[in-house]
Amino acid sequence: MTWGIFAASTRFARRRLHLGVCGSVACYKAAELLRAWLKLNMHVSATLTDAAQHFVTPLLFESLGAMPVYGGMFTPGGEPFAHLETGAHAGVFVVAPASADVLSRLACGGASDMLSAQALAFTGPLILAPAMNPRMWDNKATRANVAVLRERGAVLVGPVFGNVACGEEGEGRFAPLPEIFLAALRALAPHDMAGLRVLVTLGPTREPWDGTRFWSNPSTGRMGAALAVSAWLRGSRVTAICGPGSAELLPRGVATCSVCHAREMFEAAQDVWPQMDVGMFVAAVADFSPAETSPEKFKKFVAPDGFSIVFSPNPDILATLAARRRPEQKVLAFAAESVPDMQDLLVLAKEKRARKNVDLLAANYINREGSGFGTLTNSVAVTDIHGREEIWPEQSKADVAWDLCSWLLKL
Ligand code: CTP
Repeated sequence: MTWGIFAASTRFARRRLHLGVCGSVACYKAAELLRAWLKLNMHVSATLTDAAQHFVTPLLFESLGAMPVYGGMFTPGGEPFAHLETGAHAGVFVVAPASADVLSRLACGGASDMLSAQALAFTGPLILAPAMNPRMWDNKATRANVAVLRERGAVLVGPVFGNVACGEEGEGRFAPLPEIFLAALRALAPHDMAGLRVLVTLGPTREPWDGTRFWSNPSTGRMGAALAVSAWLRGSRVTAICGPGSAELLPRGVATCSVCHAREMFEAAQDVWPQMDVGMFVAAVADFSPAETSPEKFKKFVAPDGFSIVFSPNPDILATLAARRRPEQKVLAFAAESVPDMQDLLVLAKEKRARKNVDLLAANYINREGSGFGTLTNSVAVTDIHGREEIWPEQSKADVAWDLCSWLLKL
């Protein structure tokens, strides 16, 4: 998973996060996490345990922009009630990396160091991203501490299986940074989509022709991934049917099913559609596929003067499933268009929304810089079933997705 899509969100600006850093080799990665949250214009404060300060210094975190950065509990000149300040102001408390020692202190309610005292005085969501030697993680004492913390509501991110710094292999490796980054956003996001089951189709489809060639398009799946992640951050259960290359954009919290060609996407989507509350059809599905396919490589000498390929139509996933929906199922779709301006885009959007029986449709340019396939931003014209229409300025796909989710909730 990359964190590219949500790294450009503006919807978390000015939210406050507290980052606790423990003494684990992985603590150098906490600086990277800090930067990712700061890029969202979030306010991040931090605490480094004594052990963490053997690996990294408060100056590093201060220089990157964390404010304030706490160290020991009784630092001369420190605020008298510094250990209570975080609890009063932060929206989420993330301990990353969380060492076995700090997990044990948090589990038994210790308060003899700044990080434990701050966590004890904190009543909001607590996220723990452990990193340690696999034998330390497997130890019954650590497992019991983690069970207690989970039972009290802490969200665990990782650890994952892999190589750890000491050279051993096992479960104990710090979770991928984007997973931790997004877990914090999920804790801060409104859970206004909780209880909804959301289907998202995303990415291109790849229609096979011979043993080495296929018919496809340049979609990367970013817009669909932004919608899937937005819906997941806002509490819904998301199932994503992913065309080639797009499943890697999604966090573990989103259930994925990878497919290759349009018919496979159609079958996977129709299987789950009856259990869904919302369908977001964002995939760039190939409308046609080669009528004849072969597992063998087509050799050049067979057609020295060139040749033609016959294509046959693929099922229209959106139109078919929208026609079969229950009245309470909501449908959002995209339309990729090449038109001269936004007004023309809106005209096409309105026509396509009505024709495909969609509640909310966003149309985007495919042949303008900063919009369409493979970009991080998008310019869209949006129209809904009640005749409301808007033209949005160019913004990140994360923000487009966020606002489409908000619009959908109001329908
Ligand atoms: N779509 C789909 N299945 C298809 C084609 C499109 O589910 N076989 C969905 C897309 O995911 C998108 C919407 O339909 O949400 C519109 O896709 P678009 O390519 O813009 O429209 P088309 O129906 O292909 O129409 P046209 O080629 O005439 O523009």
